[in-house]
Amino acid sequence: MADIIARLGQLEASASYGLTLPDGRHVFLVRVHDQVSAFVNRCPHQGVPLNLPEGDFLEAGGELIQCGMHGALFLPETGECVFGPCQGRFLEALPISIDAEGNIHLAGE
Ligand code: FES
Repeated sequence: MADIIARLGQLEASASYGLTLPDGRHVFLVRVHDQVSAFVNRCPHQGVPLNLPEGDFLEAGGELIQCGMHGALFLPETGECVFGPCQGRFLEALPISIDAEGNIHLAGE
């Protein structure tokens, strides 16, 4: 199985976590309503990290991913932008799996 990239215990409900993979990719995990998703940390609009200025990846309500610079909002389930300059475009999703011990792995790597 692929390397562990995080543990479920690091993500409380409505929480996000950014990390750099061994291959140098900047990614982040979000947990909303007990669903965990992973995305490349790059906005489809300007190609910059979403948490600029440095901060959380979720808007204040903890329901949607937010671009820290422009306030664009993305669905945590699919990465689709539903508000903002990149509306209708998608974050690059990374398939993950969670094992019985709560370890999060990148699937297929
Ligand atoms: S960089 Fe794309 S919405 Fe902010």
